[in-house]
Amino acid sequence: MRTRQHVNVNATSFETFTGELPELSEGRPVEIEIGCADAQFLFERAAKDPGRTYVGLEIRENLVRAVNRNARVLDLPVQAIFVHATHHLSKLFPERSVRHCYLNFPDPWFKRRHWDRRMINESLLRQLHPIMEPGGDVFMQSDVFEVALDAMHAFESCEDIYENFSGAWSFWKEGNPFGVRSWREMNCEDEGMPVWRMRYRPRATAASPR
Ligand SMILES: C[S@@+](CC[C@H](N)C(=O)[O-])C[C@H]1O[C@@H](n2cnc3c(N)ncnc32)[C@H](O)[C@@H]1O
Repeated sequence: MRTRQHVNVNATSFETFTGELPELSEGRPVEIEIGCADAQFLFERAAKDPGRTYVGLEIRENLVRAVNRNARVLDLPVQAIFVHATHHLSKLFPERSVRHCYLNFPDPWFKRRHWDRRMINESLLRQLHPIMEPGGDVFMQSDVFEVALDAMHAFESCEDIYENFSGAWSFWKEGNPFGVRSWREMNCEDEGMPVWRMRYRPRATAASPR
């Protein structure tokens, strides 16, 4: 499928949420990938365990349509939502509803002059915390060291609400524990490129006791 590689995430058109809310079912665990692109990671998760709901958030509308089409064809419980996640994440899910959140290889064009386009920042992480289940986790991976370090800075700036599985300011060194790979992850590993990973758990807070 031909698709535009990037969109201008700073366009004012993304400030209003025009997508559809995810369809969730009582009692089914929810996994989300923010910036899912073709959602390969979620499709593979869904094939392994179809008893959960898998929701991809994506700012490129043509990819959202393609993912939803594939989900119907494959009859797998995957949905994609058209959204600028950094603006609207808090509107999409009920409190304590998400078991796993994946942040796989965001921001490939990361350059200093593009810092204002970053998907992972403190605002996104503070919106994410209330929707995470107690005992859930957030997994981030990138092949761009500056992107990984910048994401870690955002997480560690939220150390009041997230705890690093590996200890403060440390990368997760045990590989990807989820048994499936995103498209970019597959390419990086096949090319022998290093991947930096981190894993955080939401802390109980007065506003969100766990
Ligand atoms: C490099 S791709 C990675 C795709 C996939 N996660 C993987 O690992 O193969 C990053 C994706 O994040 C999306 N994205 C970037 N900023 C976003 C935002 N603010 N909200 C939702 N999606 C975003 C991009 O459109 C792109 O599809």
